Amino acid sequence: MPPAAYSRTQIRLHWAVFVLIALQFIFHEGIAEAWEQIEETGAAAGGLLVLGHVAGGIAILALVVWRLVLRARHGVPPPLPGTPAATARLAALAHGGLYALMLAMVATGALAWFGGIGVAAEAHEVLRIALIALIALHVGAALWHHFVRRDGVLARMR
Ligand code: HEM
Ligand code: HEM
Repeated sequence: MPPAAYSRTQIRLHWAVFVLIALQFIFHEGIAEAWEQIEETGAAAGGLLVLGHVAGGIAILALVVWRLVLRARHGVPPPLPGTPAATARLAALAHGGLYALMLAMVATGALAWFGGIGVAAEAHEVLRIALIALIALHVGAALWHHFVRRDGVLARMR
């Protein structure tokens, strides 16, 4: 039986990951510059922003894995009654895509930073655009539910 609601921990984790991802995007310049230096000179001066990006990414990995464990153990609430099957499938696909992209961002970032793999850095840059696009769709859908449909989907995550 799926649960009637997201657990308090699932909701807290959703918003904690949201904040961490926002910080990764806002403070990306330090690591992007460090990476350029590495490509040009083979080494880069580390700094707080570089450390923060790497630590932030690892924290995101830990919280996302935690979320996936809770998802497997506790489950997630079913779509609202009356949701067309195609819409429910699209939402499930988008959620799966968000999880996959979050993990892929950490994997490519780590392969670039710890493995010195240039193509991983390129993948990291491309994937960040896919992540932004999917987040935009996700937030758009949440706001549409809240302001147009007024159906309580946003309240499920509060
Ligand atoms: C979900 C987690 C992450 C997000 C959202 C994220 C986001 C970003 C963004 C927006 C940039 C700037 C790209 C640019 O302007 O060129 C960037 C660059 C970079 N990140 Fe991350 N990052 C994440 C995790 C990580 C992790 C865990 C590491 C390393 C352990 C890492 C290593 C790097 C490196 C080396 C760069 C510079 C190379 C490049 O631009 O691709 N990232 N990241
Ligand atoms: C970094 C940005 C975000 C990411 C990566 C993200 C990711 C996710 C994921 C993966 C789920 C599915 C949870 C599960 O079923 O296991 C989810 C659910 C949800 N998210 Fe987000 N989210 C983000 C930002 C937001 C924002 C800004 C809002 C609100 C404006 C929002 C509203 C919701 C709601 C309402 C649900 C529950 C949907 C449902 O009950 O079917 N999310 N989010």
